[in-house]
Amino acid sequence: MSIRTADSPLMNSVFLDRWSPRSFSDEPVTNEQLDAIFEAARWSPSWMNNQPWIFAYDTDGAGREPILNTFMEFNRGWASAAPVVGLVLAKTDLEGFMSRTRDFDTGAAMMSLALQATMLGLSVHLLGGIEIDAAYEVTGADRETTEILCGFVLGHRGVISALPESLQVKEVASDRKPVSDFAFRGGRITETPAS
Ligand SMILES: Cc1cc2nc3c(=O)[nH]c(=O)nc-3n(C[C@H](O)[C@H](O)[C@H](O)COP(=O)(O)O)c2cc1C
Repeated sequence: MSIRTADSPLMNSVFLDRWSPRSFSDEPVTNEQLDAIFEAARWSPSWMNNQPWIFAYDTDGAGREPILNTFMEFNRGWASAAPVVGLVLAKTDLEGFMSRTRDFDTGAAMMSLALQATMLGLSVHLLGGIEIDAAYEVTGADRETTEILCGFVLGHRGVISALPESLQVKEVASDRKPVSDFAFRGGRITETPAS
């Protein structure tokens, strides 16, 4: 595992400042912040500029509880404190071969969104642990043309002591495998990356 050091080659701290907390405060996310966050997602790259991503979200409106209820129990407990809750979807009805990268493209948009949120002093936490059938119902998405990928919450970080003790210990930025495990100059993958 690499260590987060001051001599990191990164040119901007946003890459390390972004991590996934479970503690959120009730400070609202403003409409201006939401505009900036989704605008960042808007400018993401996608194959043939297909822009397959869809974000279904709410703050304190009628959609909040239904969206929260799509989150699996182990996520819902802490996620319910976040002022913005949402679901990430992708269009599947793209022309032929271009459909292959829809999840990749949507992931790129999600990362742009998360980095912009970080620059605004906010945090995003993605949630693979959601009920897919419920998410189709809540969003009204068509199963023939749309896939549900994951949930997300967004907000200001909160007080760690408000979390259950079992989660408090997890409230730290995690580390990563070294670059040599996944970047191979010359194009030949010489070692199987450790899992
Ligand atoms: C697609 C996806 C699904 C995830 N699902 C969950 C989840 O259901 N619950 C959770 O607590 N974290 C979830 N995470 C967060 C990851 O555990 C987290 O991003 C990873 O451990 C790296 O930590 P970091 O984001 O703090 O750097 C998910 C992340 C991604 C990208």
